[in-house]
Amino acid sequence: MIRYDNRVAIVTGAGTGLGREYALLLGSRGAKVVVNDTGGAMSGRDGGSSSAATAVVEEIRAAGGEAIASSDSVAEPASAQRIIGVALNAWGRVDILINNAGILRTGPLQEMTLADIEAMIAVHFMGTLYCTRAALPHMIAQAYGRIVLTCSGVGLRGLADHSIYGATKSGMLGLMDSIKLDCKDNGVIINTVAPSAETRMSKDTIRPELARHMSPRVVAPMVAWLASENCKQSGALLSAGGGYFYKVAFYKGRGVQFDPAQPLTVEMIDENWPGICDMSQVEPFMGTLAGLEPNLRKLGHL
Ligand SMILES: NC(=O)c1ccc[n+]([C@@H]2O[C@H](COP(=O)([O-])OP(=O)(O)OC[C@H]3O[C@@H](n4cnc5c(N)ncnc54)[C@H](O)[C@@H]3O)[C@@H](O)[C@H]2O)c1
Repeated sequence: MIRYDNRVAIVTGAGTGLGREYALLLGSRGAKVVVNDTGGAMSGRDGGSSSAATAVVEEIRAAGGEAIASSDSVAEPASAQRIIGVALNAWGRVDILINNAGILRTGPLQEMTLADIEAMIAVHFMGTLYCTRAALPHMIAQAYGRIVLTCSGVGLRGLADHSIYGATKSGMLGLMDSIKLDCKDNGVIINTVAPSAETRMSKDTIRPELARHMSPRVVAPMVAWLASENCKQSGALLSAGGGYFYKVAFYKGRGVQFDPAQPLTVEMIDENWPGICDMSQVEPFMGTLAGLEPNLRKLGHL
């Protein structure tokens, strides 16, 4: 059985929805859990109270687990640091960080207020960045860490009125890919989940006949596995929703190679557009320079 005894976990946005399920599952399997949540409305505009986090802490304790509530916001550097501090003060370490907190404010980009745009970036992107940055030195010092970031199908494929939400969520991939490399030798593993579940945040975007099969409970095992010692893979993007789990990766088309020693014109792009965009023969995307070298060799340039 996969357990988390002696592991200290922080789950942000764990007062409700997906984060609550992550915290309950980790807590039920021996992790000491910091249940972080500012409480309040889905927009992040109104309310705010420690009761959401406290209720989940009580549930974990009632089931025999250990947990502490934190109502600090992820969205400011000092308060993100305090969230990590709760784990360090209580239990002296932080092994698992699940960056899950989120808010939702939508609209066409040109109609959204700058305040709404900045709030979305602050919670989703900067919040993840602040918490991860605060946790990393402790994970590196103990040569062990499991970090999970939260993406979204919207960040991968888009959704009308969700440009800022999508941008902050796809930003997780850039964050993950380079942190993975920075941490390749120090025991810190970082992955990203793109969850789909029926919560207050998704209620307008998931069809009701699907939604009833999409409890956050059937997402949580994937996140818990990514947070476990058994997870040795770093830098993966996993989709999880309705009990269906799979890896998502980028592929590239074969493209068109011109001779860079010859003059290249805009018209050549125009004429070759179908070939440049052809995805009938794809290969894993390994970086923008990956296919160039063999092509230049074939042209006799290397
Ligand atoms: N539900 C889905 O289908 C779905 C799909 C893709 C991605 N996501 C992402 O999963 C995560 C969880 O979403 P959910 O559906 O459970 O939504 P939710 O609204 O139920 O939960 C989000 C939680 O984050 C908390 N929170 C908001 N701002 C915070 C802050 N500054 N600091 C700490 N906590 C804060 C909220 O109080 C709330 O409890 C979010 O990042 C969301 O974008 C959800």
